[in-house]
Amino acid sequence: MSLINLLRKTSRNKLFTTPSHAQKFFIFHKLRNLYKLDISETETHNPQEALLKAQYRASKIYGVKSTSFLLNGSTSGIIASVLACVNPSDKVLLWRNAHPCHANAVKLAGATPIYYELDIDKEFGVPLETKPEVIESYLINNKIKAVIITSPSYEGIVSEIELIKTICNKYDAYLIVDEAHGALYPFSENLPKSAVQIADFTVQSLHKTAGGLNSTALLHCNCDIDVSKALSIINTTSPSYPLLASIEANINYINSKKGRGEIEKIISQIKTLKLNCNNCKFYGDDITKILVKHKNYSGYDLSKILFEKYNIEDEKTNKKSTMLLCGIGTSIKKINQLFFALNNIK
Ligand SMILES: Cc1ncc(COP(=O)(O)O)c(C=O)c1O
Repeated sequence: MSLINLLRKTSRNKLFTTPSHAQKFFIFHKLRNLYKLDISETETHNPQEALLKAQYRASKIYGVKSTSFLLNGSTSGIIASVLACVNPSDKVLLWRNAHPCHANAVKLAGATPIYYELDIDKEFGVPLETKPEVIESYLINNKIKAVIITSPSYEGIVSEIELIKTICNKYDAYLIVDEAHGALYPFSENLPKSAVQIADFTVQSLHKTAGGLNSTALLHCNCDIDVSKALSIINTTSPSYPLLASIEANINYINSKKGRGEIEKIISQIKTLKLNCNNCKFYGDDITKILVKHKNYSGYDLSKILFEKYNIEDEKTNKKSTMLLCGIGTSIKKINQLFFALNNIK
């Protein structure tokens, strides 16, 4: 039985078990429907088995050895990956300005971090891709156990993961890819190639671009390491089954004809926007990230005008450019409003 169906089952038994709200005692009324679905492992419910089956089905959809549903974001996926493949005496290669969970993962593993730097694009002020030759130069000179790459970057810059994986294989290092911002990649030919079938470990945040509830994410594994042991160190033993079921529903949706169609509609509308904004230049490998530079304004000024005059809030801004993030929930209407605003800022 799927997790989604299992949550529909109600128990007639008098449960003297956790959770103590007993699906009826609504302390926070706005979430009463959530309380009704919030179950634990009991004789009536066996969500653990349903979860294992849901994760197995997901691994088949992604074409990977295993997929784990995460309730503490990509953060927990990166930490579990590092804990799974690294020992305290090992060295891990990571980007100096990566998301803090990368360095924290290495710290928790008791390993030694070795940092690489990324060049910054002069025109747009964003970090460029990780160069395979830079990774190789570190691997030649150090015995490194694992390499962590962020691809895509926050701003949608993608690295050559296949080539980096070949290099990692040559030096016997595990490759961990932080694809937190690329959860839609496996579902469209018009998006960059996903790392899920290439890297040893890939993490994706469903909540960032794929329409998931905050904190939902995935960890895909392609090597022989059983990552469930590492996950059990950092995960609660009382996960929220409603959130886990939302992950199952999320994957079913983005993999469905309807979901894929929705992704293509958004991509096509953003393509039109990028082709027709005369005052702006765009950059990046991922069309869903609108990384824009206005010909007359700095990134900060553009961000301010969009906010104050058009009620449009961006995701991230620097001196040179502004980044507006789109995902599966971005309506065509909203993209058109952005198009109108960008074209009217002279
Ligand atoms: C590149 C990158 N990696 C990892 C994370 C952590 O993801 P999560 O919020 O799903 O834990 C973030 C969050 O902003 C991120 O930008």
